[in-house]
Amino acid sequence: MTTTLPHPVTDARDGEDLSVWPASTRVAPHGDLTVGGVSLAELAERFGTPVYLLDEDEVRGRCRAYRQAFPDAEILYAAKAFLCRAMAHWVREEGLGLDVCSRGELELAVTTGFPPEQMVLHGNAKSPDELDAALRLGVGRIVIDSTAEIARIAALVPQGARQKVLLRIAPGIAAGAHPAIRTGTVDQKFGLASTDGSAQHAVARVLEQPRLELVGLHCHLGSQITSVKPYVQAVRRLVGMLSWARQVHGVTLPELDLGGGHGIAYRPGETALDIRALAVRAQAELHSACTTVDLPVPRLTLEPGRAVVGPAGVVLYRVLSVKRTGRHTFVAIDGGMSDNPRPALYGAQYAPRLIGRVGSAELQPVNIVGRHCEAGDVLASGALLPSDIRPGDLLGVPAAGAYQVSMASGYNLVGRPPVVAVTGGTARLLVRRESLADLHHRDIGL
Ligand code: LLP
Repeated sequence: MTTTLPHPVTDARDGEDLSVWPASTRVAPHGDLTVGGVSLAELAERFGTPVYLLDEDEVRGRCRAYRQAFPDAEILYAAKAFLCRAMAHWVREEGLGLDVCSRGELELAVTTGFPPEQMVLHGNAKSPDELDAALRLGVGRIVIDSTAEIARIAALVPQGARQKVLLRIAPGIAAGAHPAIRTGTVDQKFGLASTDGSAQHAVARVLEQPRLELVGLHCHLGSQITSVKPYVQAVRRLVGMLSWARQVHGVTLPELDLGGGHGIAYRPGETALDIRALAVRAQAELHSACTTVDLPVPRLTLEPGRAVVGPAGVVLYRVLSVKRTGRHTFVAIDGGMSDNPRPALYGAQYAPRLIGRVGSAELQPVNIVGRHCEAGDVLASGALLPSDIRPGDLLGVPAAGAYQVSMASGYNLVGRPPVVAVTGGTARLLVRRESLADLHHRDIGL
């Protein structure tokens, strides 16, 4: 059983760099790869394409790595990265709680028996429906994102009950791979800043509500962060706020939630956030900052999403056409921005590989484009593929487990791809492909 973060695998036989593939990935005959002991070429035949697969052992190994690096902290898996019932089971069995940000995520997890008290509800715009469901089901904590929510949530708590809440702070730290996923700065839609007094005001307002129990502070700096530094800085600022709360209001808040955002490598050579370094540096800072102001050390919570599931996922596409203009080669696949909007939204880059055929030795840069009706539907520009790439070829894209299926859309009525789990040489369907019947079903007609 893996108890540490899986190590990058470089197959010495042909020197191929498989470092961004799941740790179980092996080179197989005829250009194939196996993941979790399952041939990717066979998997594509069996389930059709596009198909997403998740290496169950990789997900579990990553959960364990977090538990091992942070034995005293609470680790919540951020469901927004990807959620299905099996995923909820795996993270629960590995001892993680859940960060949910919608009624859909909350109720899906509850149907698997996930204990609501081990869930934290987020959202900058929680609907009355969502709050009702969260309170009815007994969600562990609700993260308050704005002052307006305070009285609204308090009013929904039944008489005699108390709901645990955290307050989301915007600590004024810019971190994350793209402006669209930087959430720690002030003057954006998330959280309350201490620089303009709104965080302090909110603390006072929450403490006035007898049906709310303020248990701590939260921040989420951004996503795809590869350096430990911003987290250390966030610890310092939030401990400053905890100390202020004790001085001014005489309350000692027992929890500090640092959110998620831990970056992964999408292409060989890219760096992932070093989880062990984060554990050492963030906890050292927490202890020293608390000692300085003579504050008991709060329990740390982390909310990783991408770093748990991203590297465990692979997507397989079939090449449908190859067009060579004078300057470029466009390799069109049977998926695209409807199953992976990340390149279009954040300029994300991937490293696809030919699967199930040994192509010509000569590699050429090609543009791998999606099937949707937009010139910007490009999965990878300048990806190196064998020069004889042709229709019918299979492409595998690693690091596909996070924010792809969960952000898949109904664009062009293509239907969302299935998700298959692989482990111990077997593949099983977790989420079936969205069929034409599914698409027609919601449309009432004239
Ligand atoms: N906690 C909170 C409050 C969050 O908003 C998020 C992500 C997480 C935890 C988990 O962050 P992670 O560890 O997965 O980075 N769609 C974008 C990422 C958006 C992240 C939104 N919030 C992408 O594909 O890069």
